[in-house]
Amino acid sequence: MAKALGIDIGGTGIKGALVDTVTGELLSDRVKLPTPEGGSPKDIVSTVVALIDKIGGLEDGVPVGLCFPAVVRNGRTMSAANVSNKWIGLEAEALFEKALGRDIHFVNDADAAGYAEVRFGAAKDVRGLVVLTTLGTGIGSALIYNGVLVPNSELGHLEIDGKDAESKASYAAKERDDLDWKQWSKRLQKYYTHLEMLFSPDLFVVGGGVSKNYEEFLPLLTLTTDIVPAMLRNNAGILGSAALATEPVAAHVPQPTATK
Ligand code: BGC
Repeated sequence: MAKALGIDIGGTGIKGALVDTVTGELLSDRVKLPTPEGGSPKDIVSTVVALIDKIGGLEDGVPVGLCFPAVVRNGRTMSAANVSNKWIGLEAEALFEKALGRDIHFVNDADAAGYAEVRFGAAKDVRGLVVLTTLGTGIGSALIYNGVLVPNSELGHLEIDGKDAESKASYAAKERDDLDWKQWSKRLQKYYTHLEMLFSPDLFVVGGGVSKNYEEFLPLLTLTTDIVPAMLRNNAGILGSAALATEPVAAHVPQPTATK
């Protein structure tokens, strides 16, 4: 068994648990706290500290993985979706490391969810290119090729008909525009046809809360690529960030130098 702590920071809630990163089972209760109003870095960091305390504290040597709804480059958050703009350009990883007194692994939320589906869920043992999209407030994406994550793909922001795709095809857009499943699926059809044309994936995995209703909309799509619902639901971010935190960097890749 390899143990790691996974924490998933979202626009409305922050959740975490201890994870067995070999089997993908949770080793503790899943603890959830509301995301503080405004989502400022200071408030989110203190909520994460409180959350870890509730899970039982940081055990010695247990790796910590965190995921966040933003582009994450070299530990810096380069965007901010549904959280304060103060995150843009912030050295977020260093901020959490200082507060926790421990190295952490910090990644985009959809990347964590996609990696979890490949390791433990709907895309387990799938060879080739897996494209996960999360349909929620926005659209998150993850590209995983033969088990290796290519981070920060941000395919929710592809332009379709001159519009940011997530502004038309996310679950929030369905709610906002009061679309029924059929109307929404027309937008999804355009979106996934476009993704299919660009990437010719081996499998699409569809995550986000609405994926529990997959029977209402996935059968309405006509694609040449198989498209399946995510399996890990609410735990995907926790499992993926924990698993990525234990992932060794390939031996032939130079280790990062301390430039932070
Ligand atoms: C953000 C992504 C994020 C996704 C899901 C998008 O608006 O740009 O970074 O993964 O929402 O939270």
